[in-house]
Amino acid sequence: MMNPRGRLFGLGVGPGDPELITVKALRLLREAPVVAYFVAKGKRGNAFGIIEAHLQAQQTLLPLVYPVTTEALPAPLSYEQVISDFYDEAAEQVAAHLDAGRDVAVICEGDPFFYGSYMYLHDRLAQRFEAEVIPGVCSMLGGASVLGAPLVYRNQTLTVLSGVLPAEELKRRLADADAAVIMKLGRNFPKVRQVLAELGLDQRALYVERATMANQKIVALDAVDPQSSPYFSLIIVPGEKWQG
Ligand SMILES: C[S@@+](CC[C@H](N)C(=O)[O-])C[C@H]1O[C@@H](n2cnc3c(N)ncnc32)[C@H](O)[C@@H]1O
Repeated sequence: MMNPRGRLFGLGVGPGDPELITVKALRLLREAPVVAYFVAKGKRGNAFGIIEAHLQAQQTLLPLVYPVTTEALPAPLSYEQVISDFYDEAAEQVAAHLDAGRDVAVICEGDPFFYGSYMYLHDRLAQRFEAEVIPGVCSMLGGASVLGAPLVYRNQTLTVLSGVLPAEELKRRLADADAAVIMKLGRNFPKVRQVLAELGLDQRALYVERATMANQKIVALDAVDPQSSPYFSLIIVPGEKWQG
């Protein structure tokens, strides 16, 4: 008889504090024969660090190593093409286990469907295999909690922005926002801080690095060293307080 096919799980593992993983994600993680995770070349992987203590010896680890660390590639290479080929390959590596009847848990920091790389596997595999996503506490919610910053009051609208956007685009969207979260800072930090200053939002904006992780750092926006602002950081512009 043929093996039943394995199931694909996208497991949100939360923003960093290992206790912020859901009961369901932890159960599925422990049950999975194969645990896959995206990781930069030469790094341990952020999501991997969060769940490492729960792994068992018999589980197979499947690191999916990004071929590049920056979107700026020398011509004729195109980031979109290189990364799309990589996701195709990664999906086939995962599919080989699923075809052999092994469930694969792909761990993802925060939530898998909130800027999570898992989504690129999901897009490629969810039509072929049974797939389930377990939501996680996303970084902006972890960030809001450690900053003690209620995000949106009453009927306010929250705008989530990527720091990668050009300054003009950031400015236009922030000018209209009741409350905002800006992700993907790192080398984009100086541009984002400048835009916030131009809009007079720099006094309201709050900054956190590695929210909820053991090495979390909360720094005043004007005291952040732009040379060392890490990728795992975000800015929150909380909504105006409403005295409910
Ligand atoms: C590829 S996105 C992943 C988002 C993740 N799936 C989530 O649900 O939050 C990476 C960005 O998330 C943010 N991020 C993730 N974890 C963070 C943390 N613990 N503290 C601050 N920012 C974090 C940073 O802005 C980082 O550039």
